[in-house]
Amino acid sequence: MSILLIFENKNVIPWEEALRAKLSETIIEVYPNVKDKKAVDFVICWKPKKNIFNEYPNIKIVQSVGASIDHITNTQTIKADCTMTRIVDEKLSTDMWEFLITIVLSELKNTRTYLSQKAERNWKQHDYKAIKNTTISILGLGSIGAYVAEKFAQIGFNVKGWSTTRKQISNVKSYIGENEYEAFLKNSDFLINLLPLTIKTKGILNKNTFQKLPKESYLINVGRGEHLIEADLINALDTSLLSGAFLDVFVNEPLPKEHLFWKHPKIQITPHVASLTNVDTAIEQIIENYRRFLKNEEVLNRISLKKGY
Ligand code: NDP
Ligand code: OXD
Repeated sequence: MSILLIFENKNVIPWEEALRAKLSETIIEVYPNVKDKKAVDFVICWKPKKNIFNEYPNIKIVQSVGASIDHITNTQTIKADCTMTRIVDEKLSTDMWEFLITIVLSELKNTRTYLSQKAERNWKQHDYKAIKNTTISILGLGSIGAYVAEKFAQIGFNVKGWSTTRKQISNVKSYIGENEYEAFLKNSDFLINLLPLTIKTKGILNKNTFQKLPKESYLINVGRGEHLIEADLINALDTSLLSGAFLDVFVNEPLPKEHLFWKHPKIQITPHVASLTNVDTAIEQIIENYRRFLKNEEVLNRISLKKGY
């Protein structure tokens, strides 16, 4: 029995050290340095390269070190007897909330406009919006979406959320499924994407969605790059269907230097940092899952391979 860490684009060392400190009796290896591939039964992953799992015939538990699992399901063949699990952590939700409130308030008070005006020494005043007159619509009311929805509502925003099942969240209007999608988008000033990437949600940020929003609404994508149809976004920005977009996630990360998003004046970019998994809190869950696995118990935060999240 052994644990294998497979990490791309994320520093594996703090994870490896924390695991070794707490599981001193266990064989812990870091891909690709593996002595006995058949002994690997518990893998811990971030963005593994294509088809790596094929080399390990006895994987039983696949643990994502993020909230999402698409970076694994889209690159690996997951056997039917395999259990997949992810991180659900209050810190992921609070960090996401702090990130989103920063963007929304800055947009309401025209910070982006004044930054470009400063470069031109341009003294021009603009109208600004108040929180109580602003509607935030959130795609996805899961562990992170529900938390941020409640926080926006608590400070006075009008908040709507969209999910597959009806939610009861204080002062948040819940919409479900395709039938209620149009009503959900109506009157939105900000559309925030916090959906998982699945067959059903891929490409959801497209021209049909943008056309159903009021003119000049603002898009924030912190879900996945594949949720967005890039050409539709450019068109929506260039025709002022959207006033701007803040993008934290991309189909190819790092975003290629030649990508036109870098230069577009209405697009702001961050390098997938909206909410980073905290090693200290996440490692506790992972160790608990490993212990549960050894005792043949149900692991924490198991995902449904059928639903894809
Ligand atoms: P959850 O799995 O807890 O929640 C997913 C939500 O999406 C649920 O409310 C679910 O509905 C809803 N949903 C899923 N499919 C559909 C659909 N077809 N139609 C309508 N609603 C749907 O995920 P988290 O909140 O933990 O995380 C969400 C995503 O945020 C992650 O998958 C990841 O992509 C992204 N993320 C990004 C980070 C960043 O730094 N940029 C950091 C962390 C996460 P229901 O509740 O009814 O099942
Ligand atoms: C995650 C992420 O899925 O960081 O946790 O995007």
